[in-house]
Amino acid sequence: MFSKKTIEDVDIKGKTVLVRVDFNVPLKDNKVMDTYRIQQALPTLNYLMDHEAAKIILISHLGRPDGKVDLKYSLRPTVEVLQKLLGVKVHFAKDCVGKPVEQALSKSGTKEVVLCENLRFHPEEEQDSADFAKALAKPAELFVQDGFGVVHRAHASTDAVTKYLPSVAGLLLKNEVDTITTVMAEPNRPLMAIIGGAKIADKLDLIKRFIELADIVAIGGAMGNTFVGAQGVPIGSSLIDKDDLPLARDIVRLADEEASKRRFIFALPRDGVVADSTEPNAKTRIVDWGAHVIAEIENYPKHAPMASLNVAKNEKILDIGPFSGSFIAGCMQLANTVVWNGTLGVTETASLLGSTGPFAHGTELVIDALLGLFGHRPFSLIGGGDTVGYIESRGLVEQFNHVSTGGGASLELMAGRKLPGVEALEDK
Ligand code: 3PG
Repeated sequence: MFSKKTIEDVDIKGKTVLVRVDFNVPLKDNKVMDTYRIQQALPTLNYLMDHEAAKIILISHLGRPDGKVDLKYSLRPTVEVLQKLLGVKVHFAKDCVGKPVEQALSKSGTKEVVLCENLRFHPEEEQDSADFAKALAKPAELFVQDGFGVVHRAHASTDAVTKYLPSVAGLLLKNEVDTITTVMAEPNRPLMAIIGGAKIADKLDLIKRFIELADIVAIGGAMGNTFVGAQGVPIGSSLIDKDDLPLARDIVRLADEEASKRRFIFALPRDGVVADSTEPNAKTRIVDWGAHVIAEIENYPKHAPMASLNVAKNEKILDIGPFSGSFIAGCMQLANTVVWNGTLGVTETASLLGSTGPFAHGTELVIDALLGLFGHRPFSLIGGGDTVGYIESRGLVEQFNHVSTGGGASLELMAGRKLPGVEALEDK
């Protein structure tokens, strides 16, 4: 249960409300490429307007401009998107403190909002500066934290600001924290975690937590290459993190120990789609280094040629193979809850034919299984920037039970860490 006060616990009417959102969205040529985080902020903003807040000021960061004004990271392109989605006038303030905010506020009526320029144009934001937080708080009477994606940071707009205003949670933050903590504390078992992405070190705590907690853990993506390489399998020119190799071995040991105590499956890729580049026209093939299925069947009654069992020196593993994908999808048929973080292959490579990229088949198989294509439909909790971005690009976000707006924040919450931006809010 969420133990912090929310906007539903306080009086909103007639107040000027400062809302921290996470509009850290991808931009290209000044256009917002993914509106999911903005859409997810709407329930709180609508609630505040419906409950007659006098004025609403939105603050956010975008990217990492390093404390300097750099218009490449301006929040201005989000104004049009928010205006369209919210259906009210959005006034833009060229700075998040001082005169520009006052001016934008004086123009803004009720049922309108003011969106301020990037907090991180000020170095004081990331320094958790008290003076900067005081300046942010100055025009407001209530602070609402709804930027779930950033509450794992102790910054002025997530931490220090709460010392200067009564501070409560927004509806997105409450929903995210409630859903994720409930899945981690009392999942409907069997619980399966599918973890992909690049670096093991970034998700080490998460992997360890799921080894303790879950019934099945499946690994893919670039970190899958590191695990496979750590088992002594030649992986050619695959992207791998050499520093992570000892970590990978430790994790496999931990997983083996767990499997000796209870029924627990730790699934590493046993085959993969390989090519010498990630280009859309690269020639692909399947290498079966551990399933002993594809290579043998393809060549029966001869022995499989070495090439079908080995990744060549110039090749990279760019996706999990059909055996590994089917194994994961099969396990998902037994799971009642699936937590998925990280794509299983290089989903960025576009397809020359149809909609599925050449290295996105493993990821697509997981999506199909999550959506019940093979019969059973488990509860799905999805997190991580790349994964959510991919699902967004496929127009499937609405189809899953919970798609988190947080990358690092959801990882830390799942790993059992306290989130400074949540801790700082008032208790119920
Ligand atoms: C995110 O995209 O994960 C959040 O907006 C946090 O951004 P940050 O990692 O730059 O703090």
